[in-house]
This record gives sequence, C-alpha cells and structure tokens, in this order.
Amino acid sequence: MPMIRNLLRNFRSLQSMNKIVIAIDGFSSTGKSTLARQLAETLNYTYVDSGAMYRAITLYFLDHTIDLANHTAIEKALEQITLGFIDNKISLNGVIVESLIRSMAISNLVSEVSALKEVRKFAVAQQQAMGLQKGLVMDGRDIGTTVFPRAELKIYVYADEEVRTMRRFDEMKLQSPDITMDEVAENLKHRDHIDSTREVSPLKKAKDALVLDNSLLSMDEQLQMALAWAKERIEK
Ligand code: DC
Repeated sequence: MPMIRNLLRNFRSLQSMNKIVIAIDGFSSTGKSTLARQLAETLNYTYVDSGAMYRAITLYFLDHTIDLANHTAIEKALEQITLGFIDNKISLNGVIVESLIRSMAISNLVSEVSALKEVRKFAVAQQQAMGLQKGLVMDGRDIGTTVFPRAELKIYVYADEEVRTMRRFDEMKLQSPDITMDEVAENLKHRDHIDSTREVSPLKKAKDALVLDNSLLSMDEQLQMALAWAKERIEK
C-alpha cells in the first residue's frame, strides 16, 4: 500500500480544487468498481456503485416475486423502494444489503431487471441527483452516455474475457465455494449480451471516453493512469 499512500499525498492538493464528475463504464468484472473506489478515495470524492442499485432493486423484486412482464406491478414495487448508501454500502429500505446482492441468484436476474425502462428511469433519476454537487465517481454501464453525458472525465474500462472470468471466479468462490469456472463464464456472457443489446441505455463506449485496458495492468498501474487523466481535468 505505500504506492497508494504516495499517490494520496501527491493528490491531496487536488482535493480542494475544482470538483469534477468521473464516469466509469465497462462490462462486468473489468475491475471498474475497484478503480472507481480507489479514485474516489484518493480524490476524497463520493463513490457510487450504480450496479449495486440495480442489484438491490433485483433483490426486492425477487423477495416480492414481482412479475417482470407486469409493468403495473413493477411501478408499484418501485414506489416501495428507497435506496441509499451507508459507508459505501448499498441499503434497501434502510437495511444494508451489500452481501445479499452479490449472490448468483441476483447476478442471474439483474440484467433482465436493469433492462426494464421503469427501473432505468427510477435509478437514473437518483444517480443524476447524486451528481449535482460534483466530486463524484460513478461506475456502471451507461454513466458516460446517459447518466452524465457531460461528465468531465469518462473512462471506458476494458479487460480480456479470460481475465474477467478469472477475476469474477475468484470473487464468487468466496461466497459460493461450489461454483465452477463454466458457470461464471456463462453468467458473464449472458450479462454482456443483455447489457450491450438492450433497448434502453445499452452499454457502449461514449464517444469522448478514454479507454483503459487493464488486462495486463496492476491495480496501482490502472489507478495511476486514471489519476493522471483526472488531474488534467481538475487543474483546468
Ligand atoms: O456492475 P455490476 O455487475 O454489479 O452490475 C450489475 C448489473 O446491473 C449489470 O449486469 C448491468 C446492470 N447495470 C446497468 O444496467 N447499468 C448500470 N449503470 C450499472 C449496472
């Protein structure tokens, strides 16, 4: 961690400068959440994991057996949902659900739920409200295209498919020791397909986004790259 500490010292002066919005997009398990969290920590910005919002909505829909084809039921259910972040952990109606939303059951359904236009409208409005004060790093799929099309810095994170599968497998194994690499690879493929082909706000690189391919980079290296981009914009 000495590298992080040095970076922190170098960037401490930036914290009091011009605050910007940093939008980070990319497929699942590209390492974008790690990057977003570290960037926010270094710059003393707010971090928002927009995927966690869609996962918490999915958890509510699963718990209340909401029929995803019934638009009236979906709208009624959304009226019952209050999302928040407590110490960077997502809360659903006041209860922290951070670990519950990382299960395979949620991962298997979240792309279908997040493709629903009512759900997107609900989540995007809250995400945009969070950006009003700037000093924000948000990661997701449509942050640079739909949520903050005027973000000062947009990063599109990319990693090779095998690298992503390995990373996701290592993460999922902690929660579900019986999980296989094939199951993880299937889930990633399934979500990639829905996330990038859905009608509303599909994942795509914003025209003005900078591509960060971290397949061969360490976490420190990707952080340094992103911090250099952020610095240029904060000092403008
Ligand atoms: O980042 P994640 O894997 O936790 O996101 C879970 C799902 O939420 C993902 O499959 C697609 C969806 N999502 C989205 O549609 N838009 C976002 N801004 C963030 C996530």
